[in-house]
Amino acid sequence: MDIYWSQYWQQGYLTSFGDSIKANYQGVIKDCWFRFFDNLTAQDKVIDIGTGNGALIALAQAHPSLRCKFVGIDYASLKISDKSLIERENVEFFSNVNAENLAFESGEFTTAIAQFSLEYTDIEQSIKEISRVLVAGGRFQFVCHHVDSLILKPNDRLLDAALKIKEKEGVFDTLKKLVQALGQKGTPKKETTEKLRNKLNNLVSGFLDTDDDAFQNTGFPTLIRTVFSQKNIAHRQVMISEFEEKLYGQISRLTQFSEAALNKEDKENLLHFCQQAKLNIENNDIIYQEDGQILGYVFSGYKR
Ligand SMILES: C[S@@+](CC[C@H](N)C(=O)[O-])C[C@H]1O[C@@H](n2cnc3c(N)ncnc32)[C@H](O)[C@@H]1O
Repeated sequence: MDIYWSQYWQQGYLTSFGDSIKANYQGVIKDCWFRFFDNLTAQDKVIDIGTGNGALIALAQAHPSLRCKFVGIDYASLKISDKSLIERENVEFFSNVNAENLAFESGEFTTAIAQFSLEYTDIEQSIKEISRVLVAGGRFQFVCHHVDSLILKPNDRLLDAALKIKEKEGVFDTLKKLVQALGQKGTPKKETTEKLRNKLNNLVSGFLDTDDDAFQNTGFPTLIRTVFSQKNIAHRQVMISEFEEKLYGQISRLTQFSEAALNKEDKENLLHFCQQAKLNIENNDIIYQEDGQILGYVFSGYKR
């Protein structure tokens, strides 16, 4: 189990896009799901694979007429902050469940959905499992990341910035050394602290000149501000350690994201595994934003 997704969901985010999507998915992605939800009835039982903190199930609750049962599973430990979602009788969530080994009876679900999650799994195995838990005739829809999507570009820039922050002798190392030097017993050597302060300032300016947005989104500039507004040395160390843990988590998640996005060959493999697992594909499209940029792939169909 990947602790980094658990660490991420424990922060209470609704989607995997952190602060950049405050409410739920909107626009073309929402429309794509609402069209699929339009055909479900109150008798349906839906499994959401890699549900995260339940964004897709929350979206379904906003559909004007849809009131069927939803089960969200994820291999991470979840923390769904929307109380109204957890308290709904028709909605259930299971943390620590692998898509490759679903703890449900064969044919238990009439519908399977997944959004930006199937591509993170062992696709061959999870598609087999999805097919097993679906009834014959049961429907499915998967929305997956596309290598050329507009979602991936800022992700890659953020990943580059996070990796650069983590470099040996880089900004984070320098900040740590400065905080350590300032916290030393007795009067810290002015020469050492000044040298480190200058180095930190130069490295930060370098970042601001190259990709300010990505740098800001790593949270590092906020860390510098909060660390130096804090007088207590021990508290400063705690902030630094917490940031380090989050930075490693961020790098792990963003790397997985880059690797998970489907290229042409991955897409062909996915279609092949569906075919093998008796999942008939009826719709296999690219989702475009209104301005023509790619948002992802959508695959849908039914079990033979
Ligand atoms: C990008 S997030 C998407 C979450 C959610 N579907 C959404 O749209 O906000 C990917 C999710 O897939 C989950 N995941 C990755 N591999 C998995 C696996 N093998 N089994 C179950 N869940 C998995 C992760 O824990 C994470 O919550």
